[in-house]
Amino acid sequence: MINLLFWTTSERIKAINHNIRHQEDHAIMSGRFKALMTIALIVPALIDCAGHAQAQSGKQVTVYCSILEEQCREGAAIFEAATGIKVTMIRKSTGEVYAQVRAESSNPRGDVWWGGPGEGHLQAASEGLLTPYKSPRLDELYDWARAYAEKAAYQTSAIYLGALGIGYNTKVLQSKKLPEPKCWADLLNPQFKDEVQIADPASSGTAYVFLATTVQRLGEEQGFTYLKSFHANVSQYTKSGIAPVKATAMGETAIGIGFMHDMITQILDGAPVKTIAPCEGTGYETGSVSIIKGGPNPDAAKLFVDFALSPEAQNINMKLKIYSIPSNKNAVLSHDAPKFSEIKLIDYDTARYGTPAERSRLLTRFEKEVKSLAK
Ligand code: G6P
Repeated sequence: MINLLFWTTSERIKAINHNIRHQEDHAIMSGRFKALMTIALIVPALIDCAGHAQAQSGKQVTVYCSILEEQCREGAAIFEAATGIKVTMIRKSTGEVYAQVRAESSNPRGDVWWGGPGEGHLQAASEGLLTPYKSPRLDELYDWARAYAEKAAYQTSAIYLGALGIGYNTKVLQSKKLPEPKCWADLLNPQFKDEVQIADPASSGTAYVFLATTVQRLGEEQGFTYLKSFHANVSQYTKSGIAPVKATAMGETAIGIGFMHDMITQILDGAPVKTIAPCEGTGYETGSVSIIKGGPNPDAAKLFVDFALSPEAQNINMKLKIYSIPSNKNAVLSHDAPKFSEIKLIDYDTARYGTPAERSRLLTRFEKEVKSLAK
């Protein structure tokens, strides 16, 4: 089994690439068959769920959702229809949910935390804010995802992977006569002053993956030197990770940092956007789902986690064209998804950067040494 969290250097990258390549081949070779299989799987699964819908009636579950609003809504509708359990869905960015779960720990209001990069979930796990849960769906996951849950002592489970990248609006670059960036280093070019948008790593899991990628790529001291010069080119730090992606698509910023799959959604919608995996190598997220400790509806929370790990929930992405890499082997992987096997990944260490010691410390340092700098 792949020990994703504690493997070293190229072994971990090779393992991910092997798994993803397998997923890609599988998707290409059996795309149509899988689509048929998905329909065949969804119908009985929903009928099965509907069978105990009555038993669940009157029940509810509160889900803090850190994927996109439209995915959250779609998921709530499918889960409600299938189980009869009423879903109260609240969309917040990863760092915001972490802070809320922590603030509510003496009187938890939420039951499930659905989505967002794993570091926030892992920090919450280390701080005793989550309840371990070994979903029966774990058997359906790829090795990398099963290893992730196992190493997290089942306090959180993987639902998808997403590679961090640079997106840019080709029309804006052309009209301003700016070069197309290819590498992280290119983003320090003074020509890009105020032309780059990224989220705030304290609120956004996406931006925290960028911060963690930078310090892993360059070492912490050089990483902060990079972040300080990068800051000169940042026009604003947004609250959510998706905001810079949308701003890039709208031409409100020339360059946005975000997950490549979110940039691809905009490209498929016709935006003049290109996305690249930077030449030096990039980091990635392990999108996660967790049960909040002491939440008011623990049984419904388990059912919701089973749902989040299922192909039915992960195939919502096909409908919405949000092509993160699913963790369930039976979920469909689109040909339009970023090709992980072709992306140069750094040896990204989700476990280490999800410890309170690293995450809290790096965020405080970023706040003090980077965000506070005059522009
Ligand atoms: C989008 C992406 C997800 C990511 C999430 C993080 O929904 O599609 O892959 O996990 O953003 O959101 P945040 O606002 O915390 O950066």
